[in-house]
Amino acid sequence: MAVREECHDQLPMPNGWFAVDFSHELREGDVKPINYFGEEMVLFRTRSGEARIVDAFCPHLGAHIGYGGRVMGDTVRCPFHGWQFDGETGECMAIPYCQKIPPQARVRPWPTQEKNGMVWAWYHDEQKPPEWDFPALPEFGNPDWSEPRAFELELDAHVQETHENNNDPVHFQFVHGMAAEPPGEIEFSSDGRHYQIVNHSERETPFGTFQTSLIRDSWGLGLTSVRTTGIEDAGLLMYSSATPIDEKRVHFRWLMTATRNWVDLAGEEFMNGLTKGVYDDFDIWKYKVHRAKPVLCEGDTYLGQYRKWARQFYTNPVA
Ligand code: FES
Ligand SMILES: [Fe+2]
Repeated sequence: MAVREECHDQLPMPNGWFAVDFSHELREGDVKPINYFGEEMVLFRTRSGEARIVDAFCPHLGAHIGYGGRVMGDTVRCPFHGWQFDGETGECMAIPYCQKIPPQARVRPWPTQEKNGMVWAWYHDEQKPPEWDFPALPEFGNPDWSEPRAFELELDAHVQETHENNNDPVHFQFVHGMAAEPPGEIEFSSDGRHYQIVNHSERETPFGTFQTSLIRDSWGLGLTSVRTTGIEDAGLLMYSSATPIDEKRVHFRWLMTATRNWVDLAGEEFMNGLTKGVYDDFDIWKYKVHRAKPVLCEGDTYLGQYRKWARQFYTNPVA
């Protein structure tokens, strides 16, 4: 029966590290309301330069600290009566009109880190502390690589579904009008949170024709890097994050960098091609249902493995 609600297996919120801002868009003293994981939070950068996230609503009378809040040293000050909260512990450090601070005066702090040009929050539906991490990529901050170019957008989809695209080589032909993808290799790392897919193909480049490799690394459902290697003295890196706004909407952020000798020749086109390609997927994601038990065929190379891998990021995975 083709009734959406009956065909759809709603995926819950996955646990993991998810980007909440670009580093370059959060300056010292900035305070921003943010909405991810179906929750309201406040993101700010302290005077010592740390990015911090706390729950939005003040324990006092419930003001939203993200609207009119102010950074004071390492704390954020509520706009309503000036209570100040430490971004790391969430504790109230000062009440401007009272010496004694009630012990319950605290907001929930979110585990936060900054890496690879983005600010990351750790989400866990039972509020468990971070269970794994992801690496700093050497291309960022390397003087031989271009200043990263940024792109972002929001769309209707669940973050597991958008990530599934990486493991669905056949759709590149049908949705994106690309050539059939050559067979690749998939490898899961020992802690199980990371996997890598490598594809080899001959490519024409501004430097000649080379046997190139496309290397896709993913850490959890929130981040994926795509590297092009094999071209002498040149390389491209696209780094993408996907963050659930709620179970039905995703915020994508990309950073792209290329070796300086390549950025003028192909870097921009590469980025434009990638970002344009995402629009092709929009309608599929928007109108599809999620099938917890899809009917797969032998040609669906990595899909079964991907589904199995993705289950670990849920406290209660759907069947
Ligand atoms: S509501 Fe935040 S200080 Fe009163
Ligand atoms: Fe796609």
